[in-house]
Amino acid sequence: MSIIDPAIAVQRLPRHVAIVMDGNGRWAEARHRPRSFGHHEGVKAVRASVEACIRRHIPTLTLFAFSSENWKRPEEEVGTLMELFMKAMDREVDELVANGVSLRFIGERAAFAAPIRERMDRCEERAPASTRLQLNIAANYGGRWDIVQAARGVARAVAAGELDAARIDESVFDAYTCLADLPPLDLFIRTGGETRVSNFLLWQLAYAELWFSDVLWPDFDAGTLDAALADYARRERRFGGRGASGGAGA
Ligand code: FPP
Repeated sequence: MSIIDPAIAVQRLPRHVAIVMDGNGRWAEARHRPRSFGHHEGVKAVRASVEACIRRHIPTLTLFAFSSENWKRPEEEVGTLMELFMKAMDREVDELVANGVSLRFIGERAAFAAPIRERMDRCEERAPASTRLQLNIAANYGGRWDIVQAARGVARAVAAGELDAARIDESVFDAYTCLADLPPLDLFIRTGGETRVSNFLLWQLAYAELWFSDVLWPDFDAGTLDAALADYARRERRFGGRGASGGAGA
């Protein structure tokens, strides 16, 4: 395993990384194997990325496992993915918890079959003694869905008389989004060569740094993560203000 450049100071590391894990299908096709083989190998890359975040003291990792648009895939592939999720949850949860990983699933759960929903609940209930990594799995998730469910929460609070509509601002609204209690998103990574956001974490992306790679997800490892971290550490984040170098910009 590659070790991150010790010259990257802890304060230059992101506190929250999100990844669109793209390229499983192409990785398998390049090997004349079924797409399901790529998804199986993708699980190994999930494990590697979790391990790498723990070692690098990155406290929050959010992975896009299944988008609300992925239901459009052939039934067989959706079935394979569901089975994979269930098996991965059964197999990995003990080790994750033992290693200080807290799990959360974000997305609309109602569409999943009961055995999957039950496993999600059980995984979330398994709190480690002390959390080293908060791992969020986006499943049947869409960034627009998150914004709409937050708007619904805000509307309910107003209707119940708990919230004055005149008080709604960005930080009040933010509190109703899925990851509100966690560090703001710092670094967005997408593998697989596409340079799209694909309806992931739209609200949270406002000032995140974006990093795209041609690496196909099953090939993602600690070295790829380190390349992203090194690039991130070099960037000057200005959040719309003026940076240390005096330059204006976003
Ligand atoms: C995109 O590759 C990947 C997915 C739709 C599924 C991601 C799932 C995993 C990595 C496995 C399990 C995850 C967990 C959290 C246990 P693609 O099929 O779109 O690839 P392509 O762009 O090459 O067709």
